[in-house]
Amino acid sequence: MCGIFGTIGANCVTNTLLALHQLEYRGYDSAGIGVKTECGLQIEKSTGRVNALKVDFVAGKVAIGHTRWATHGKVCKQNAHPFVSYDGNFAVVHNGIVENYLQHKLALQRQGVEFASQTDSEVIAHLLAKHFDGDVATTLQKVCNMLTGSFAVVVATSRDDNLYAYKRGSALCVGKGKQGTCVCSDVAVMEQFASSVAVLPENCLAVLGNSVDLWVEGKHVEPCYFAPSHTDCDSNQLQGDAMLAEIFQIPDAVRQTYDYYFASGGLCLDKKQVNGYKRVYFVGCGTAYHSAMVGCSLLQRLAQMDCQAVVASEYVYDSFPTDKHTLVVAISQSGETADTLKAVQKAKRQGATVYAVTNVCNSSLCFEASFVKFVKAGREISVASTKAYNCQLVALTLFAVDFAHAKGRLSARARSRYLTCFDKVPSACKHLVSQSTAFALMAKRYKQAHLAYFVGRRLDFATAKEGALKLKEVSYLPSEAYPSGELKHGTLAMMEQGVLVVALACEKDLVDKCCNTVAEVTSRGASALVLSQYPVSPTSNQVQVVSLPAVDEIFAPIISVVPLQLFAYYFAKGRGCDVDRPRNLAKSVTVE
Ligand code: G6P
Repeated sequence: MCGIFGTIGANCVTNTLLALHQLEYRGYDSAGIGVKTECGLQIEKSTGRVNALKVDFVAGKVAIGHTRWATHGKVCKQNAHPFVSYDGNFAVVHNGIVENYLQHKLALQRQGVEFASQTDSEVIAHLLAKHFDGDVATTLQKVCNMLTGSFAVVVATSRDDNLYAYKRGSALCVGKGKQGTCVCSDVAVMEQFASSVAVLPENCLAVLGNSVDLWVEGKHVEPCYFAPSHTDCDSNQLQGDAMLAEIFQIPDAVRQTYDYYFASGGLCLDKKQVNGYKRVYFVGCGTAYHSAMVGCSLLQRLAQMDCQAVVASEYVYDSFPTDKHTLVVAISQSGETADTLKAVQKAKRQGATVYAVTNVCNSSLCFEASFVKFVKAGREISVASTKAYNCQLVALTLFAVDFAHAKGRLSARARSRYLTCFDKVPSACKHLVSQSTAFALMAKRYKQAHLAYFVGRRLDFATAKEGALKLKEVSYLPSEAYPSGELKHGTLAMMEQGVLVVALACEKDLVDKCCNTVAEVTSRGASALVLSQYPVSPTSNQVQVVSLPAVDEIFAPIISVVPLQLFAYYFAKGRGCDVDRPRNLAKSVTVE
């Protein structure tokens, strides 16, 4: 979703542009910068990437910047941030949604204010001018009180050399460093600009000058500063496509996640707590939902728990029995996904305990959860998640093993056998990424496909869903996933030449079933790609088999997805797609 940044000091323009490059993954429909110079507020905007911004003014006192993922209004220069108030005194960048913007817009238009954009955000700039009472901070508080929705706003003004910010519902943090103070929507981006960072509490007004002052509902509050963490495996440092680099980091990242799980206290729930839970929900969105499916399936299998994987936005709007005996495992790479945050807030209101699995320290999700398990994927830049998924699976598999053990459903011996079996996982991932040229050739072989289906049963179904999502996200090839048994209940009607079916068979008792499915689709003209760690003989030249390295079946989802990630990458490259910045998507969706 939109990325916002603001800073004060001699290098404010350079630093803001640097930050915008790092924030681009949150939205790349347009970018803009606003700088307070000797000549007043200067604004530069452009559609597309941050690189397209032509900024002539390098000297400034205060700068704000924005990368946009369009919600209200199409992608065009007029709808790019910052927006300037009708009197020219306030420049505003905004992330989130102002739900009642239309009411304010109509009222302002009736008073003769002209709007330059179709966005909800522009209204904030004009309201600041309209209600200015001589003090920018109190005016911003007043204006935010008039707005509904969730939003993070940063304001630069011609009236002084401060920055003003407000946070409600959307993440915002402030920082102090050698070069001055700064404010940003993204904690991870702050590490480059600040030695101390504080996450703003809800409904917080911040004034940044030489120091940072915070108020919540009129009361002065002290920022809770921490030193930003420096990430391992930082994809920003790598050349070429981040998606490919991130896939290549999987072997190390899964090992780091395994080690960190134990270094950070293992399960973190004792026997009493585990036995107190009657049900477990695994919630997440997109790729994180697919790891929720794996976590759920493993916990059911190993601990015979009543559990369910739920798409976070469905949890918010449907009725899932939740009380103090409920554990909600919330999975989110960024820890900032609005739907996931809403789901955990609802679960907490109903008495549940929240256990977060996230890749970003000090993300909003960490502050909502009673327990936090970090995955050590390192910073993930590519919009399509890859290494974070594999790492979430490591953490969730260990969670399921330890939970089952604490519940008395898995012996100490069986537990330790599983843990030893993990040893093969990093090398299995390494073996697969070292075969990347083979997957590139495979992608070439199927380049004429006009439709793809991914199928599997049980754990393989979650992998099928992730494979289909990856392929459509980055290549735009229509691709869907089904439990294998469902094909014959409708989707078989779609089978013909030009259709690719990717079938997974990573559990021994399901291999024959998978072969039957493959026979059914190939006899109707489709091509099939079969992935298995068990021997499968191709029955016709329409069938190609990928042999996966053997690992214990509970770890199979961590490795079987790797060929699918590589396949999606090479397929998209073959179609000339921008793999790291797929159309219409954003890495972190911070609005509902
Ligand atoms: C967006 C991204 C997906 C991601 C999902 C959940 O839709 O495009 O790649 O899986 O958000 O993100 P999270 O940060 O919560 O894991």
